[in-house]
Amino acid sequence: MAEQLSNSELLSIFASPSLFMWKMLDIKPLPYQVELLEDFNRNILVVGGRQIGKSLTLSAKALWTAFVKKDQDILIIASTLRQAKIVFDHIYRYVSNNSLINAHTKKLTITEIRFDNGSVIRCLPSGRSGEGIRGFSATMVIFDESAFIPDEVFIAVEPALGVKGSQVIYSSTPYGKRGFFYNIYADQMSRNPAHREFSIYQIKSEENPYFSKEFLEKEKRLKTSAQFAQEYEATFVDESGMFFPFTLVYNCVDDYDYNFPRKTEAGEKLYVGVDVAYSGEDESAIVMVKEFSDGKRQVQYVETIAESSVVNLVGRIINLSKSSQIYAIYVDKTGVGAGVYDMLKSSLGSIVRGVEFTEHNRERMYGNLRMYMENKLLKLSRFDDKMLYQFSSYTSKYDITGKLRIVKDINIHDDLVDALAIVFLDAGGDDVKVLDIGMDLRFSGNLDNRPFVDKRSWFVLGDDFNSK
Ligand SMILES: Nc1ncnc2c1ncn2[C@@H]1O[C@H](COP(=O)(O)OP(=O)(O)OP(=O)(O)O)[C@@H](O)[C@H]1O
Ligand SMILES: [Mg+2]
Repeated sequence: MAEQLSNSELLSIFASPSLFMWKMLDIKPLPYQVELLEDFNRNILVVGGRQIGKSLTLSAKALWTAFVKKDQDILIIASTLRQAKIVFDHIYRYVSNNSLINAHTKKLTITEIRFDNGSVIRCLPSGRSGEGIRGFSATMVIFDESAFIPDEVFIAVEPALGVKGSQVIYSSTPYGKRGFFYNIYADQMSRNPAHREFSIYQIKSEENPYFSKEFLEKEKRLKTSAQFAQEYEATFVDESGMFFPFTLVYNCVDDYDYNFPRKTEAGEKLYVGVDVAYSGEDESAIVMVKEFSDGKRQVQYVETIAESSVVNLVGRIINLSKSSQIYAIYVDKTGVGAGVYDMLKSSLGSIVRGVEFTEHNRERMYGNLRMYMENKLLKLSRFDDKMLYQFSSYTSKYDITGKLRIVKDINIHDDLVDALAIVFLDAGGDDVKVLDIGMDLRFSGNLDNRPFVDKRSWFVLGDDFNSK
């Protein structure tokens, strides 16, 4: 397209990031994207619902800056290289597909692009402490999915941002009222708009007309209102009342990819949890958890099966069990799950354990799961944001006896956490009074403030307080 443009047309296109996105990259920006593209404030915060075009718009902004201005150092940072590469891959594609931009490119690799005007765009994973970024200085820094970047990273890179008077853009879908990203938002919003240091954008998913209305409707049905508000309405959700608060979940997160575990070392055990879909809209989930010889556990592999065919699900589990040594398979045998359980039991025998989702079992499995998390005995993968977000659909409430009970709406789509939790049914050991996940109301209104002595005394503590 650029080939047919006159010099004066090109000049006006290069003068504006949004025209550049439209005419050079062939994507017509939406009104809120134009605003973001044309914003040269030094500090920008984008709080967005999913799929509003954050990654797309920020990649166009980065490319315009590098291509049009001389000697720009642009860093794209996310918690993992995989996430940082999502933005970078957009840029890589624009550069490869546009002959004019391509002609001015000196180096094009999957993590770095250099232009003949001295500008460079790099993508970097933040890691846990930002150690990989510390040496870089930059004229522009884009943090994508900032809510998942550890606080230490922002602190570590702060000095580098000052050096060249960088423009810094923090973008993310919210993940709880916690962490650096939320703190900036809360601080800025508490000020008079005239005294804010940041431009703040808060954009709901429905503002992107390209985003499927049907999908959004379905998500509304299958998610709790708090979950929907957070993921699609760009709202930070309070974690009080959540059985698995964001802070608890986030503290279990580590940087690793899922890997299908083909073999286990001595002393290790592999558990599989299966949550069977109830309706055509639902998915069945298979979660594999490895237990290490020191008793710690890690989610190792996850698979979801969209179709509700029981035969396919059973076939898949049998296949998985052939390629790795599984210690136990826990299957939800409530309702439709009964058929799955019967078929698995007759093929795989004693390693298959059917679990009815009775109140007793639910409190045991979710309670044990939470106990592992409280005690940092479980690792979750940072890149599985679907699972991380699903934890927020479990709320807790006090029953008439003052016990805190987990509340789960059967219509809510939380297959991944259910498939994970079921593996924890027996995890506390038989001597633990796991039925009592409650606590004395007189002690504290918040489960988080509860002291933990060790992993086995979590529930027993509740009894101690009750007897005082
Ligand atoms: N101006 C636009 N024109 C056409 N399509 C667009 C536009 N803006 C966004 N989209 C489309 O919307 C989808 C979401 O874009 P993108 O991945 O950049 O969003 P995101 O906010 O980063 O999403 P996520 O929250 O999943 O990370 C993509 O399919 C993208 O092509
Ligand atoms: Mg994105």
